[in-house]
Amino acid sequence: MRLDGKKAVVTGAGRGIGKTIATRLASLGADVAIVDIDGETAGSTAAEIASTGATAIAYELDITDTERVAAVFKGIAEDLGGLDILVNNAGLTRDNLFLRMSSNDWDLVMQVNLKGAFNCTRAAVRPMMSQRSGRIINIASVVGLVGNVGQANYAASKAGLIALTKTIAKEFGGRNITANAVAPGFIETPMTESLPEKARADFASKISLRRFGSPLEVANLVAFLASDEADYITGQTISIDGGML
Ligand SMILES: NC(=O)c1ccc[n+]([C@@H]2O[C@H](COP(=O)([O-])OP(=O)(O)OC[C@H]3O[C@@H](n4cnc5c(N)ncnc54)[C@H](O)[C@@H]3O)[C@@H](O)[C@H]2O)c1
Repeated sequence: MRLDGKKAVVTGAGRGIGKTIATRLASLGADVAIVDIDGETAGSTAAEIASTGATAIAYELDITDTERVAAVFKGIAEDLGGLDILVNNAGLTRDNLFLRMSSNDWDLVMQVNLKGAFNCTRAAVRPMMSQRSGRIINIASVVGLVGNVGQANYAASKAGLIALTKTIAKEFGGRNITANAVAPGFIETPMTESLPEKARADFASKISLRRFGSPLEVANLVAFLASDEADYITGQTISIDGGML
């Protein structure tokens, strides 16, 4: 499985799962654009990847800013010499029980997780259409499939992202552009590491494989969906949750 010469954009790639995805795509031969609202982490991720000999360029970008997204993506396609793969990974949580959830927290999560993916997809799909090929991979969550207490905003945003994925697959399949969603369960990140030991053990006991997943396991699935080996897969939501659901 190789991605030699492919041009990839990963949003939210300054840290966490996005950073691991960008690193994995680059290790398979892709040139990567590291997009993050945090310019500092984007820069250090790009430098780390570039130190392996791969091509990685950092772009500080708030994906909720529709006009800037269009301009920066145009620049990315010029800098990299095309755009083959978009990974909509940037996302955040603002958890609270439904009755306590503020309207601001609802809006912020929708803006970043759903509108951000809309903005980036719209900006990426044009160059993909003209080259008559492209891969869009959206990082959703199992919570978008089954809901979760305290995450009405997050669950709705990820369910929306799954529906967006299916629609993009239908609208752009004729141009040989595939769109798939990846739905991770519990993944070892700073977010889950901060859970109390007892809570971690309780969650793990409900997972068939009795452990959390790693960012690399998610990145390997994304790399597969981005590769030629996944040519005939589109409109799917693939859970990667150790059998939790
Ligand atoms: N960690 C998990 O267990 C888990 C489980 C399921 C799904 N996910 C999803 O995976 C993705 C990555 O999660 P993570 O745990 O690595 O999160 P993280 O918080 O470690 O990383 C998210 C990155 O997105 C960036 N970002 C946030 N808002 C942005 C914006 N407006 N514009 C550009 N960049 C922005 C952040 O700066 C950060 O670098 C998210 O979409 C998340 O919902 C995570």
